[in-house]
Formats: sequence, structure tokens, C-alpha cells
Amino acid sequence: MILSLPVFSGGCADRTDSGTPVVFEEETESEKEQITIGFSQLGAESDWRSANTDSMLSSFTDEYGYSLIYENGQQKQSYQITELRSFIQQEVDYILLAPVTESGWDGVLEEAAEAEIPVILVDRRVDADKSLYSCWLGSDFELESRKLCEWVDAYTRARGMEPSDLNIIHIQGTMGSTAQMGRSRGLANAVREKGWNILGQMSGDFTETKGREVMTAYLKRFDNINVVYCENDNEAIGAIQAIESAGRTAGPDIDKGDILVVSFDGVTEDILSVAASGKIAAIAECNPQHGPKVRALIEALEAGESVEKFNYVDERIFSALPEVTEVTVDGVVYPIERIE
Ligand code: AHR
Repeated sequence: MILSLPVFSGGCADRTDSGTPVVFEEETESEKEQITIGFSQLGAESDWRSANTDSMLSSFTDEYGYSLIYENGQQKQSYQITELRSFIQQEVDYILLAPVTESGWDGVLEEAAEAEIPVILVDRRVDADKSLYSCWLGSDFELESRKLCEWVDAYTRARGMEPSDLNIIHIQGTMGSTAQMGRSRGLANAVREKGWNILGQMSGDFTETKGREVMTAYLKRFDNINVVYCENDNEAIGAIQAIESAGRTAGPDIDKGDILVVSFDGVTEDILSVAASGKIAAIAECNPQHGPKVRALIEALEAGESVEKFNYVDERIFSALPEVTEVTVDGVVYPIERIE
């Protein structure tokens, strides 16, 4: 928050009652009080989350004029609510909240509003009244899913398969989170419109461990799985481990017995190299670089400007496979970024 400039016009001395000289330091026009931010990150469950935390922490530094209080909610809403209450008590200038799930925030957001502390939502959304937060910045999770489903449709047709040949395992993210709901809705609509089969659907909580557990269980139950739709890359890595342990192959040759794995994020070199090998056939990017954009929103608010309520980041779709070069959603063409 930009506070009023000091009243002292230059270096000067005054006297206390005891006669001791008091020297006032000269302050320049560029000296402004730091803006204090309380950031409640939802957890550290994935590579995407680590990249997102890095982006936020490096954007709210002393150098940019911020003092940041960072908390990790460990995927528990109750922890995040406690963190927000602590920020309110500390009278921070802004609260940044990356909420683990959408519901259950009304009470604490009302407390922030009563304390006149603006709240900016990052990454995921809440289902509370929109007047309780200033704005949101993040991904269009359903659009990510629609692009990926169009890719699956085009790719499997290019490999000579009928939509009814697709037998899909769906490993969901954290239930009730915006990312899970958007990506699950996108798949559910595609299944209905295209005529695919869903064999099983279970949460992997966006983690490698749970992705592996869920996939191991489904591989014991079904011998006709040929597609795994994972709601993030960490789940996909776990699913690939399970597929290989079961003696099956994760790969692009779905018409020859491979299991086609698709997922979301694409934030690390390691993941992109797994996709380059074809073990993950396509990845819809989820862009974690929120820090500078959130800082720009705060700068605009500080300048008294109005900002958009919902702010989307740009995202691509990646694959190493040459069969599909672009997908179209709602008339917009998205080129497939080729991974080498
Ligand atoms: O909300 C964004 C999602 O959360 C990312 O896709 C996932 O990796 C993370 O855990």
C-alpha cells in the first residue's frame, strides 16, 4: 500500500524536552512503505505446485516492495482457514488465496471483508459470493480438457480406431477443486458426445503415489484398458509405473496393445522428456507462472484502477506424435506444440 510521504522536508534536527537533539533521516520520494502480503498456498502435492509457489515467492520480494508471509496449507482447508485468520490478525494489506477446494470459504472471506483486506484468488476458485474477493487469476481447466479430448479423438481416429473402441480409466484430481471439476466435466462431455467408454473413475489427489495406487487396482480389475486420462502429470507418472509393473506398455501404439496416457501440466523438463518418449502421448499445458500477473493486478488496484474479475493465463498443448497437428475448440484453432 502506498502510504503518504513523510512530512519532513529534509535532513534536520529537532529537540526533545530534555534538549537532546533528534536527527530525522531524509527520506526520498522513492521510499514507500512495503506492501504486506499473506499468501496461503494450498499445498506441495505436485511439480506444478512447486513451480507455482516459486513464481509467487519470487514475485513478492523486498526488491519489488513487498513483505510476504507464505503458508503451505498441506491440502487441508482447515489449515488454510487458520492461515487466513492469522493474516487478518496481522493486518496484512492483501490476502492471496490458492484454495484447495471450492466450497466452505464464505465465513473467513466475510471476516477478511469486515477487516477491509482485499482477497485475490490464485489458481483455483471458490463458490462464495463474488463480492467477497477482488479478483481471480488462473487457468481455464475445462478448456484444457476440451483441447486434450479433441486430441485423443483425432489421434485415435488417425490410428484407425472407432470411438467405441476406447476404454478409459479416469484418474481424477482432488475432488471438489476447480482443476478437478473442470477437467472431469470436459471428459464427461466428450465421453457422451463421442461415444467413448469409461471403465473406472477415482481420485488420485494430484499425486504420483495415489496415481500409481489407483492404476494398479484398475489393471487388476480390467484387461481391456487402452486409455488413461490423468488430471495431472504426477498422477500420469504413477500410472505409467503401475502399467509397466503389470507388464503392459504405456505408449502411442494404442492400435497394437499400448495404453495411451494423457495428462495436464507440462511444467518440467523431466515430464516433457517422458512425453517426448511417447509414454505420455499428449499434455494439455497448465501454466503455473502466476506471480508477475498477480503482482500486476495488485499494482493496478494500488493505482486505483479497476481490474477484471476473472483473469485467464494462456496455455498450449504438447505432443511428440505427428498424427495430430492442431485441435479446434469453439472455433478456435490450437496448434499442437511438437516436443522433440
Ligand atoms: O490447480 C492446478 C492443479 O493443481 C495442477 O494441474 C496440478 O498439478 C496441481 O496439483
